[in-house]
Amino acid sequence: MSDHEFGNVSTDLKLSLVEAYLKAFTTALRPQFPELWYIDAFAGTGERVIKQTAVPADLMPGQAEKIERRRGSAQIALDIRPAFDRIVFMEKKKSYCSALERLKEQYPGRNIDIVRGDANAAIEAEIQAMKWVGKRAVMFLDPYGMAVNWTTLERIRKTEAIDVWYLVSLAGLFRQATRDPEKLDDSKRVAITRMLGTDEWIEAWYNRPKKEDLLGEYDDVYQRVADVEAIESFVGKRLKSLFPAVLPPKRLKNANGAPMFSLFLAISNPAGKAIGLATKIGNSILKA
Ligand SMILES: C[S@@+](CC[C@H](N)C(=O)[O-])C[C@H]1O[C@@H](n2cnc3c(N)ncnc32)[C@H](O)[C@@H]1O
Repeated sequence: MSDHEFGNVSTDLKLSLVEAYLKAFTTALRPQFPELWYIDAFAGTGERVIKQTAVPADLMPGQAEKIERRRGSAQIALDIRPAFDRIVFMEKKKSYCSALERLKEQYPGRNIDIVRGDANAAIEAEIQAMKWVGKRAVMFLDPYGMAVNWTTLERIRKTEAIDVWYLVSLAGLFRQATRDPEKLDDSKRVAITRMLGTDEWIEAWYNRPKKEDLLGEYDDVYQRVADVEAIESFVGKRLKSLFPAVLPPKRLKNANGAPMFSLFLAISNPAGKAIGLATKIGNSILKA
């Protein structure tokens, strides 16, 4: 089975923002660059399956479960015109890679590579193997959780050729950074530090607020005081410390309105012209 069932209304929004950027990117850069690439590091299957809850059989006999198939990021990228010259799909799951192979067959003549494995290792290998002069690329980092290592972002930044759409899991960070520091075990600390490339988040998110009573100042409970806003802002500052430009993100919520992700656009090319163009396109999409 390779059906990839995921997402909600925010997923549609996320994919429509990335699609709008991809279209504008190839339209603007096609005349200047012979090699435009798209790298989807958490590619999925190319489609998204949405199952509608079936009506109970005793109420509506014979009524089948309704399955809707929508395009995922991989297929969206393949459909972009002007077309990308090369497309790289990275995906950890074997059955999803097989689905991507079948998708590839529907686009004969296109230069499509499918790399099976962990995205961090695959990006490292891809970047290592390539000369980036004369090329421009868009990369989409769309993990479920906190799978992107900071060292991977450092590698991407060094190319000076890649614009990255990075879906940051606010819910993942919020959950791992437990309010009670006693519950913040080593595995949680390591996961957050691996993602953010620093342990300064501990100092920034936890504090020992001072309180005063008649006897003077005393320490209140030691706990996480950073809310989702502060966590998103910390991530933004970290990205800005690495990339020449990072746009204000789009916050994505779940069906109950709880913030789940922040979608960032980071630009690795330090040239003013590249930053200007990517910022203009990105802002027009993110603010729309
Ligand atoms: C949110 S889904 C991506 C959806 C895709 N962008 C789309 O629009 O169809 C995340 C994908 O990443 C894959 N994945 C999870 N961990 C991974 C890793 N470390 N490296 C590469 N792929 C991974 C999952 O199997 C899943 O297909």
